[in-house]
Amino acid sequence: METQPRRKGPDVTTNPHAHSAEPEPQQRRSFLAWLSSFGLFGSAVLSAFSNFVFIKPRATYGAPSRFNIGKPEDFPSGTRMALETHRICVVREGPKMAAISTTCTHLGCIVGLSETGFACPCHGSRFDQDGNVTGGPAPEALSWYKVTLKPNGEVEVDKGIEVKPGSYFDV
Ligand code: FES
Repeated sequence: METQPRRKGPDVTTNPHAHSAEPEPQQRRSFLAWLSSFGLFGSAVLSAFSNFVFIKPRATYGAPSRFNIGKPEDFPSGTRMALETHRICVVREGPKMAAISTTCTHLGCIVGLSETGFACPCHGSRFDQDGNVTGGPAPEALSWYKVTLKPNGEVEVDKGIEVKPGSYFDV
């Protein structure tokens, strides 16, 4: 009995859906190879990007500890000015300047200026003009920060460096 050799691929003669415009197998293989290379490259780029996004810290670290507050002449002698954004009180006495913290040492509320110094609205702590505790639950005095005059003539406060209470800077 004679057997017919088996053909690979669709039988064009018997398949009514076969197209004559179908790409050749070699072209199809090249296209699939290109497609998979493109996919691999794309996933590598995506992976690198997501790693970068993951590694880059998203945390914010709050306000910088050093900042300029203006020129000495912006604070005439006798000034006691609260700068709420920086949580400090700038004090000027003659040629001397200082920066006192307005963060209450009890639970961190912002203290306000009072006739006798500072008063905390949260639990009633009171401080004298130099920030020493005079009443209420605050456990310690308000901090004093380093003040310097920059070469550009601006006064800089560094909240990263505390100084002894009563330490004024000559401007
Ligand atoms: S936070 Fe100021 S007295 Fe409690």
